[in-house]
Amino acid sequence: ALVSAAEMLKQAREGKYAVGAFNTNNLEWTKAILKGAEESKSPVMIQTSMGAAKYMGGYQMCVHMVEDLIDSMGITVPVALHLDHGEYEDALKCIELGYTSVMFDGSHLPFEENLEKAKEVVRIAHDKGVSVECEVGSIGGEEDGIIGSGELADPAECKQMSDTGIDFLAAGIGNIHGSYPENWTGLSFETLSNIADVTDGKPLVLHGGSGIPLDQVQKAISLGVSKINVNTECQEVFAAATRKYIEEGKDLEGKGFDPRKLLAPGTDAVVELVKERIEWFGSKGKA
Ligand code: G3H
Ligand code: ZN
Repeated sequence: ALVSAAEMLKQAREGKYAVGAFNTNNLEWTKAILKGAEESKSPVMIQTSMGAAKYMGGYQMCVHMVEDLIDSMGITVPVALHLDHGEYEDALKCIELGYTSVMFDGSHLPFEENLEKAKEVVRIAHDKGVSVECEVGSIGGEEDGIIGSGELADPAECKQMSDTGIDFLAAGIGNIHGSYPENWTGLSFETLSNIADVTDGKPLVLHGGSGIPLDQVQKAISLGVSKINVNTECQEVFAAATRKYIEEGKDLEGKGFDPRKLLAPGTDAVVELVKERIEWFGSKGKA
């Protein structure tokens, strides 16, 4: 069964590792993420953006799909189903329909409103044992139509947000959604450690996990990051493996055009990436 992410991230924070939160888009990706986590004996978070959930047929569909796969695949590691960058109404909908974790992203709202809505989501979510992530500052770049300015989070605001009782906090620390530009100056570890200093051991979330070099990932974990979001990299390896299969003409051999064959190389590439990131994040063997 699905579990809340509160306990797995608390353990990660204490154990100085991070849990990977991988975005899914369909059945194949969901299976790939579950397989990668199970083979690594690692806790995992499967997350859907609002757009990806809509694409898959809605939030209820996502809950049923992940729950049924956990059963049919015999998954034994802890799995949380999380709403990524949710609006207020969507967060409430997911809590009602069986997501075990939600992000309410009010980072584009005036701070007071972000805070008030966060409190409301926490109250409703915790009543059902669902964990909550909120965001302060802004993640740069664009993901599924969510565009961020990249503004660094203010530690004082982070403290106020942390005190609402949220389970984990996403803060803008120079991280960017999508691939990183040539002239990217890296994560702001100064901002990160200032945030960690005032948030009382609260697990911190690193968005924009694709393309951050290993040494920066490890340093971020050592400073309190306990959840790392990975989306774009999964899309890149999936697309590259699928393109290779088609360019080699494999789809033209025998029944190679059968979607179950056509999508297999990309799916396998996602499994491998998930396993590699789990090693990077240090959660291998923690389940
Ligand atoms: O919310 C999802 C992530 O922050 C993913 O970022 O696409 O850069 O890996 P990414
Ligand atoms: Zn994000």
